[in-house]
Formats: sequence, C-alpha cells, structure tokens
Amino acid sequence: MNNFDFYNPVNILFGKGKIAEIKKHIPVGAKVLITFGGGSIKKNGVYDQVIKALDGFNVQEFGGIEPNPHFETLMKAVEVVKAEKIDFLLAVGGGSVLDGTKFIAAASCYKGDDAWDILAKRARVDSAIDLGAVLTLAATGSEMNSGGVVTKAATKEKLAFGSPLLFPKFSVLDPEATYSLPKRQIANGVADAFVHVMEQYLTYPVNSPVQDRFSEGLLITLIEEGIKAYDSETPNYDEYANMMWAATMALNGLIGSGVQSDWATHMIGHELTAFHGIDHAVTLAIVLPGLMTHLKDKRSVKLLQYAERIWNITEGSEEERKAMAIVKTEDFFNRLGIKTRLSEHNVGQETIDTIIKRFTDKQLLSIGMLPDVKIEDAEKILVDRL
Ligand code: NZQ
Ligand code: ZN
Repeated sequence: MNNFDFYNPVNILFGKGKIAEIKKHIPVGAKVLITFGGGSIKKNGVYDQVIKALDGFNVQEFGGIEPNPHFETLMKAVEVVKAEKIDFLLAVGGGSVLDGTKFIAAASCYKGDDAWDILAKRARVDSAIDLGAVLTLAATGSEMNSGGVVTKAATKEKLAFGSPLLFPKFSVLDPEATYSLPKRQIANGVADAFVHVMEQYLTYPVNSPVQDRFSEGLLITLIEEGIKAYDSETPNYDEYANMMWAATMALNGLIGSGVQSDWATHMIGHELTAFHGIDHAVTLAIVLPGLMTHLKDKRSVKLLQYAERIWNITEGSEEERKAMAIVKTEDFFNRLGIKTRLSEHNVGQETIDTIIKRFTDKQLLSIGMLPDVKIEDAEKILVDRL
C-alpha cells in the first residue's frame, strides 16, 4: 500500500428530519447566505424546512446557480457576500450548488486580482468563509470532500479546484430530500458515484484489500440499489438512503487513500460537458467503456478482479473475461437509461479534434494522474466512443 494522509472533518447529519438540526452547527449570530439552484428546493419542501430550521438567524438568499456552475454567476454571489458581510454559507442543492458555494467561499476571501486563478492557476486558497450543506442529489460526494468544479461560460472551460479549507462544516444527508429527483438525475447520480469508485479502483494493484473491498462493496451497492431506485414507481427510503451513503463514501477520500487513482475519465468527460453541455455523469458513462477497452492490457490485474468480484465473471480466457466486464459496465449504464455513444449525443470527430487541441495547447503530459493516458490515448478512447 502507498503512504497517505487521510483527513476528513465533515460532520455528517444523516437521515430523515435532520435538516431541523442545522441550527446547532452554525455559529450563534452568524449572518447566513443560503445558496441554491434553479428552484427545485422551493417545489419539494426542502427550502421551507431550511428556513424553519434557521429561525432566529439573519438569513439572505442567492438562487440561480446552474448545473455545472458558472464562474460568472458565482462572482455575483461573491459581491453579495462582500456587500452583506456574510459569515456563513449554506448550500442547499446538488453537486453544482455545493461546488459553486465552495467557490464562493474561497473567492470571497481571495486577495489576488482575478478569482478565476483559483481554477486556472490553482492559486492557493488561504482563507474561506465557513460553509455547510443540505444535499438534495446523491452523486458527486461534494458534501464530504473539499473539491469542486466550476465552468467559465465565456470560454467553455470546466476546471477543478480544492482546499482543505473548503470541507463543509456539516452536511445534511436526508434521503427524503432526494425523493423529488427525476429518473434522469437518479441515473446520473448512480453513474457518477460508480465512476468515482472506478477512478480510484481500476488502476494498478498495490496490495490494498481494505480499499479494494470497500470499493467493491460500493460498486455492488450502487448496482443493486441504483437499479431498484431507478425502477421504483415511488421512492423507497432505504433504497435512496443506501444510494446516498454509497455516493458520499465513493468520494470522501477514504477509498482513494493509499492506492493509485486515475481521474482520466473525468478529465475527458469535463471537456464533453464544457463543449456540449452533456450531463456530467453521462460524459463519464460515455468515456469509461472506451478507457477500459483501451487499457485492458495495461490494467489487466484490476480489470480481471473487477470482472470476477463485481460481475461474477469466472469462465473463459482472460481476454474474454475482460471483454465481458466492459460489456457489463456499459450495459449497466444503458440499463439506467444513459446513452453511452457520442453519436447519440450528436458529437462527432470535430469535437474530438477540439478537445485534443485543447489538451495539446495545455501541453499535458498525461490526462489523469497516471502516465498510461496520454493525449494520443485520450484521442483513441474518444474515437472508440463515436
Ligand atoms: O437547480 P435545481 O433547480 O436545484 O435542479 C437541479 C439540477 O437541474 C436538479 N435537482 C437537484 N436536486 C433535486 C433536483 N431536482 C429535483 N429534486 C431534487 N431533490 O438536478 C439538476 C442537476 O443538479 P446538479 O447539482 O448539477 O447535479 P450533480 O449533483 O450531479 O452535480 C454535478 C456537478 O458536480 C460536479 C460536476 O462536474 C458538475 O458540475 N462534480 C463535483 C465533484 C466534487 N465536488 O467532488 C466531483 C464530481 O466528479 C463532479 O465533477
Ligand atoms: Zn464525477
């Protein structure tokens, strides 16, 4: 196993009715800014619960944070934070609202000329406003990690940032807050969390049975509970609860500690969202089967382990087992109603050329964290997905 530091200070308030407890976790007298998205929280009762729970606090609101949050929108919130002297941010929504709020927290305290540098130049975050979260979509893990992804609409750049100062102080995970999700977002959540595990699992063995078996448990849970939740006519508490906890555990640092992670699928997927607005999880479901196919020999050991332990594939030659595991993975995404071919999203060779040019202009030595996905590999992976 590799050396690692593991630090995760997020206080998780899990279960039905937990929104009512947030008051205990916000400093007395804090001036709170509630941040949210396009309005789903006002239709499903979550907003009302939050307002009730904040009784007695000085509360302001900033709505309209879009999916794949825009830098331009978030900077408007930064102005509000500064003008109103906000000292606590409460993100109420999915990954986009949470990520956006982390960025607002950092940008509001940023001393440099241009807060975009936090993303483009990975400028260090030296201070940030405290934040908490009420999660309404199980997917990204943003509720229990310190990272985020922000898009500059003007230039179609989608970039990641992070800092230990951006861990939420607390996150409420009430499965009932996700009951109003449309099927498409349930499918997205399952697929995103699934790929988060794969990014930390399908690399190279380092003799890490704890991390491997945690990861395999999460993958199997996401397959079982995800399909049940996707198929259910009405939400079932336990299915949504298990899905929610699996998604949180998939990206809170635990399974990635001491192992080799990748993230090439995400790096390529972000470009597809940036240029075509394709849902984040859908981009991953498009790219991952291509990455698995392209790296089936280099990542053979973990791919065979995945085939056996996740899909019970034990018969046939190694080549056959690996090929079957890739087919099963894509079938799973399709089973959730996700279209996994670029052509199904009207994306052609032209976009691949644009993405590859951007990677080349940035002189990237590798796309993710491993040297086995270079720019030419990313191109082959994308061409395989046409
Ligand atoms: O904006 P509202 O009206 O709230 O509607 C949202 C949005 O349209 C809706 N929604 C959320 N909760 C709902 C609901 N609709 C009905 N009922 C509810 N309970 O769902 C739509 C999508 O929301 P969004 O927040 O964009 O989805 P998701 O949670 O998948 O977040 C995606 C963003 O997170 C980033 C992605 O890149 C993308 O920008 N990621 C963040 C990560 C992190 N911080 O660690 C890691 C991930 O890999 C990912 O990159
Ligand atoms: Zn993701």
